Amino acid sequence: MRLVLMGGSLRPASFNARLLKHLAQELESRGHQVSAFMGEALRLPLYEDGLAPTSATLALHKALLEAQGLVIVSPEYNAGIPGHLKNAVDWLSTLKPSPWAGLPVLLSAASPGAFGGARGLMAWRATLANMGALALPEAITVPHADQQLDGGGAPTDPRTAAMVPKLLDGFLTLAGKLRQA
Ligand SMILES: Cc1cc2nc3c(=O)[nH]c(=O)nc-3n(C[C@H](O)[C@H](O)[C@H](O)COP(=O)(O)O)c2cc1C
Repeated sequence: MRLVLMGGSLRPASFNARLLKHLAQELESRGHQVSAFMGEALRLPLYEDGLAPTSATLALHKALLEAQGLVIVSPEYNAGIPGHLKNAVDWLSTLKPSPWAGLPVLLSAASPGAFGGARGLMAWRATLANMGALALPEAITVPHADQQLDGGGAPTDPRTAAMVPKLLDGFLTLAGKLRQA
C-alpha cells in the first residue's frame, strides 16, 4: 500500500518526529511504500484566501491523493492541534479534489505529559470528521515521551510497545478494505 505519515513539530528534537520515523520503519518493514512529511516540509505559508499553494503544499496534496491511508503523529498544544499542522490541513481542505473524503487515518501522539497527547487527538477527530476522513477509533499515544521513547522512536513501556503493532495492523486492515491499490 501507499501510505503517508504526517506530523512532528518544528522542533529539531521533536518526540513526535522520532515516533513518526519509527512508525514509518514499521510500515516499510511490512512491505508498504511510505512517504513522510514532517519538520520543514510542513512549514507552509499561513493559509490565505487567494494565495497560491506552494510546491510543498502541492507535494503533500499529491501524496495524499495517491495514498490508501494516512498516519498522523501529532504533538498536543493546549489540548489541540499545533498551528503548523492545522494550517497544512486547512490548505489541503481547499484543494480539489479533496484528499480527505474517505481517507483512512491512524492517529498517534507523543507528549512528555501523562496523557500522551490524547486530548489533542480529540481535536483532530473533530477536524477529520468535518472533512469526511475516517479515523480509526483507537489511537497510539505515548505518555512520558521524554523517558519512554528510545533513540529510534520506539516506545519503551511494554504496554505502549505492544499497542503499536496491534494498531498498525488494524489500520492496515481497515485501509485495505476501504481503498483499493
Ligand atoms: C504551546 C504549547 C502548548 C502545549 N500544550 C500541551 C498540552 O496541552 N498537553 C501536553 O501534553 N503537552 C503540551 N505541550 C508540551 C508538548 O507536549 C511538548 O512540548 C512536546 O515535546 C511537543 O512535541 P514534540 O516533542 O514533538 O515537539 C505544549 C507545548 C507547547 C509549546
